[in-house]
Amino acid sequence: MTKSLCDFFKTIDGVSKKNIVSPSILSADFANLESEIKKTAQFGAQWCHIDVMDGHFVPNITIGAPVVKSLRNVTKLKLDSHLMIENPLKYISDFINAGSDIITFHIEAAENCAKECIEMIKSAGVLAGVSIKPNTPVDVIKGLLPFVDMVLVMTVEPGFSGQKFMPEAARKVKEIKDLVGYLGLSELIIQVDGGINAETAKICAEYGANCFVAGNYVYKNPDVKSAIQSLLEV
Ligand code: DX5
Ligand code: ZN
Repeated sequence: MTKSLCDFFKTIDGVSKKNIVSPSILSADFANLESEIKKTAQFGAQWCHIDVMDGHFVPNITIGAPVVKSLRNVTKLKLDSHLMIENPLKYISDFINAGSDIITFHIEAAENCAKECIEMIKSAGVLAGVSIKPNTPVDVIKGLLPFVDMVLVMTVEPGFSGQKFMPEAARKVKEIKDLVGYLGLSELIIQVDGGINAETAKICAEYGANCFVAGNYVYKNPDVKSAIQSLLEV
């Protein structure tokens, strides 16, 4: 059975925050992932964002399921696997078995198998997310909204951390939020990813986003605590 979304909003000590913060380990020190992740947990992050790239869907290669499996052994944070890969249906089971709590696939890579991807993820008791790239219109995922737990709106072209936030892509959050209201889907999580910091998160929060991925802003910040706190309450 799918876990209650409310559980996912809570910090480890049981205190609910306004938003979910999911620092992206793509900007962390890969030689010290355990301590890097624990630092974000200590300062209140609830999720850990794992950017999976295959060199085909995006022009970069990063992390696979074995890394997720190792992280599962060292953190209680919700493991938020963002699959930027071709043929997600083929690999979803690997990420379920590795211990992901949330699995997000891209609609651009799953036009003919989106429903199957969602069913596979949800039947394992994992939260299902669908993502759209900056140039993909909301219309493409409209019919999926009642079936997913989360929509991820990319606010940069997927592939690399440290890029500049795209305000025009963020405006799609408002479109999704309006649809969510119209369809009565109050529990849908709206996540944004790419160029997120306190300032850009505020723009997204005003549009209706409630889950913030941040790579550089958290992991390259001399004050990780303030960075996370600013996103939790924006
Ligand atoms: C980009 C990834 C992002 C990236 C975010 O393709 O999906 O999660 O790591 O990094 P920042 O926050 O630095 O833009
Ligand atoms: Zn990501």
